[in-house]
Amino acid sequence: MTRPKILVARRVFPEIVARLQQHFEVDHNEGDQVLGAGLAARLQGCAGIFITGSERIDAALLEACPDLKAVCAMTVGYNNIDVAACTARGVLVSNAPDVLTETTADFGFALMMATARRIPESEHYLRRGEWNRWGIDMFAGSDIHGAMLGILGMGRIGQAIARRGHLGFGMKIIYHNRSRLAPDIEASLGARWVSKEDLLRESDHLVLVLPYVPENHHIIGAAELAMMKLTATLTNIARGGIVDDAALAAALAKRTIAAAGLDVYEGEPQLNPALLTVPNIVLTPHIASASIPTRHAMANLAVDNLIAALTGGTMPTRLN
Ligand code: 8YV
Repeated sequence: MTRPKILVARRVFPEIVARLQQHFEVDHNEGDQVLGAGLAARLQGCAGIFITGSERIDAALLEACPDLKAVCAMTVGYNNIDVAACTARGVLVSNAPDVLTETTADFGFALMMATARRIPESEHYLRRGEWNRWGIDMFAGSDIHGAMLGILGMGRIGQAIARRGHLGFGMKIIYHNRSRLAPDIEASLGARWVSKEDLLRESDHLVLVLPYVPENHHIIGAAELAMMKLTATLTNIARGGIVDDAALAAALAKRTIAAAGLDVYEGEPQLNPALLTVPNIVLTPHIASASIPTRHAMANLAVDNLIAALTGGTMPTRLN
């Protein structure tokens, strides 16, 4: 019996390709560049695709690839996939939740701390050879312990960040989300639901962990930034486009908020050049889930889904 053909859309670990080769004829794009216009041609004859995050799967692509039966992403976010269009064509879709929750929360917390305590800014100063005396307010930032941690988007990762803040650092936790958490979960996290406006006004450190859907586009723009405390920090580990990056750069330049930590950007891997002109920002290249064990777990979950989808099994994290 001939094995189904699949495409691995970007470079992944050799063990992942080897696992897939036990079940499929595998075409592996061994580059780190996203296949854009060339994706449809490369997918001809493929029953499945393993995607790493940014590949756009929409109605036009599905139309051009009639053999496609399964789209399996190794990411939790899937704003690049038109799930409704896949459903309409009977194409199965999966993402990779849970396996990256704790790793991503670790990173969100680290980015928030690095931002509040100005760690990269002070390191750059030291590397430039400018440190020749101690100063009472030299790189003095804001405290994490005991501060008000605000979380916009209280899903799995948001809750994991809240838990770190509440149990590890004695922070007060407020959050805003479409739906409220169950009272026992709120109690275990010491978390209080507030309106988005109160979240903006009251947070000392605001962390964004919400999915990118059209209604969340620029959910943090100039008006929202203006509502935040002058001493507040903003951390975005969610998706580019949730924050209006131009408005954020302006707010940082005018110091209407103290600092920001960003792991995601509008139009990444390009970023708004204005973000590079302000000192009070910590910039990382979309690495929140990037620990070695977690990246393996994410990829293996996508493999599990792809095998199940194309062999009649039960997909562990099916979306449609
Ligand atoms: C990915 C992520 O590394 O899972 C997600 O949604 O944002 C990250 O874990 C990223 O999407 C790769 O492009």
